[in-house]
Amino acid sequence: MSAYVNGKQYLQVTTLRMTPQLKILLTIIRDKNTKRNDFIFYADRINRLLVEEGLNFLPVREKKIETRTGAQYVGAEFVGKICAVPIMRAGLSMESSIREVAKRIRIGHILIQRNEETAEAMFFKEWLPDDIHERFVFILDPMLATGGSANVTIRRLKERGVKEEKIIYINLVAAPEGIEAVLSVFPGIRIITAEIDEGLNDRAYIIPGLGDFGDMYFGTE
Ligand code: PRP
Ligand code: URA
Repeated sequence: MSAYVNGKQYLQVTTLRMTPQLKILLTIIRDKNTKRNDFIFYADRINRLLVEEGLNFLPVREKKIETRTGAQYVGAEFVGKICAVPIMRAGLSMESSIREVAKRIRIGHILIQRNEETAEAMFFKEWLPDDIHERFVFILDPMLATGGSANVTIRRLKERGVKEEKIIYINLVAAPEGIEAVLSVFPGIRIITAEIDEGLNDRAYIIPGLGDFGDMYFGTE
């Protein structure tokens, strides 16, 4: 489903279908009374839905096979290779979900941290496969706030030759400011998110949001 952000329709933003079940999962991970084990369990459930949705945007081609009855079946197969790039640290929480659905995937990593005072995204290090420009790239990051971390990541991928059309940014909770900041610079990428929130507070945290995802998932302060 495409999304409306501040009254404008973005065809390249897909939100998950808001079923009662997804609403329950989002309520649990947003609730300040939720314990860490439950937070991890239910965030992982949403992550699985997100990566499955991401796979729906990969190209496929027709594949004819013979079934065990000897009959022909006209089916399909994926075309192309994938690389997932979790933005460390919080994006690491999504790595196991994509490994569960994509067997031959490569995993790159990019270490970016927001400055705690200014919320500016600071790049530290990256580890990316040499053939990343030949792959579809799934950027993994549960929080899209100002869009700074996403934009640094996409810029570095483009420097390695990855086309915007081959980038799918997989995200759990997005602020409208972040979506607009990313798509105004990189209109060719796709964003898949579970829910779009109201906005940012004066510390650039997503509202209503869920607080600091990385601290909750990994048990740090
Ligand atoms: C968080 C989050 C995103 C980023 C989003 O990371 O995981 O990467 O902030 O904010 P932005 O859209 O304003 O850039 P943070 O730098 O706090 O580190 P963490 O993953 O270690 O929590
Ligand atoms: N990072 C988080 O973990 N949460 C936010 O709301 C914003 C950035």
